Amino acid sequence: MKLNEKRVAIVTGSSSGIGFQTAITLARNGYSTYASMRNIEKSKIITEIAKKESLPLQVIMIDVNDDVNVKNAIDKIVKDVKRIDVLVNNAGYGQFGALEELSIEEIKAQFETNFFGVVRVTQAVLPIMRNQKGGGTIVNISSVGGQVGAPILSAYNSTKFALEGLSESISHELRPFGIRVIIIEPGFIKTNIMNSSVLAKKASGHKSPYYPYTQSIQGYFRSMMDNPESSNPEEVAKVILHAVTSENPQLRFTVGNDASAIIQAKRKMSELDFINLIRQQLLPESQ
Ligand SMILES: NC(=O)c1ccc[n+]([C@@H]2O[C@H](COP(=O)([O-])OP(=O)(O)OC[C@H]3O[C@@H](n4cnc5c(N)ncnc54)[C@H](OP(=O)(O)O)[C@@H]3O)[C@@H](O)[C@H]2O)c1
Repeated sequence: MKLNEKRVAIVTGSSSGIGFQTAITLARNGYSTYASMRNIEKSKIITEIAKKESLPLQVIMIDVNDDVNVKNAIDKIVKDVKRIDVLVNNAGYGQFGALEELSIEEIKAQFETNFFGVVRVTQAVLPIMRNQKGGGTIVNISSVGGQVGAPILSAYNSTKFALEGLSESISHELRPFGIRVIIIEPGFIKTNIMNSSVLAKKASGHKSPYYPYTQSIQGYFRSMMDNPESSNPEEVAKVILHAVTSENPQLRFTVGNDASAIIQAKRKMSELDFINLIRQQLLPESQ
């Protein structure tokens, strides 16, 4: 294993999708990479690739929901390699369901991983980045859904809107310490996310008044995942690599043609026109 002790990266949620590709890409580009995942049994493929290519990649168990586990894992990394240059907060999942049908527990669980998971790992890493020469870079995987609301996805999109606010705010307070914050906003990326997404318990039956809309939104998201024009996680990983190796990166990076088009439209159109466009696109039958 060719461990490059100069640059150390941690990626959360590396068992699949964007996290998997980002961990491999960072390791291929010389970062001593900790590919963290909550279920180590899912590490077989990444470990095989790392072994085959002699990559500086190690798997470590991190469940971003678990205070003690996060602290112990970061302590172990610091004990081993003394520094952390890049943290990619990627772990997350989707939650479908109209607000009326989501329990408070379901919404809290969504925030626990997608928002507080980021807070937890970032808080554990910040003292190390702040006290080391060269600072560090925090990369938060948001979404186009962190800028644009969508029906039946209010819990998920709220976590991403919150993540955007957190990231932009801390980008200011961490700058004096040489710590950079980058927000990645992917559009539709072909990963396992539709399979790992959960549906609100009350939303699953035909009796739900929102049933046709929930079906329609899930169907739309599934079709976008299967669309040959949707991006691959490799594209996201490339953008992350570009962002972390840039001397002076911008705060936000969108990934995928769909993502740039939506964000540009939001900037350029009137709010009313934009809201109508989103409704037309996502719930045409409700118009
Ligand atoms: N795919 C898209 O279209 C898209 C678009 C915009 C943003 N994103 C964001 O990109 C990120 C990665 O998603 P993906 O598309 O790559 O989906 P994915 O293939 O389902 O990967 C999600 C990863 O997060 C992990 N994870 C979930 N809860 C966790 C926890 N408590 N602790 C540690 N790891 C946990 C999963 O682990 P397990 O394997 O153990 O479940 C998995 O490794 C997410 O934050 C998602 O919101 C995705």
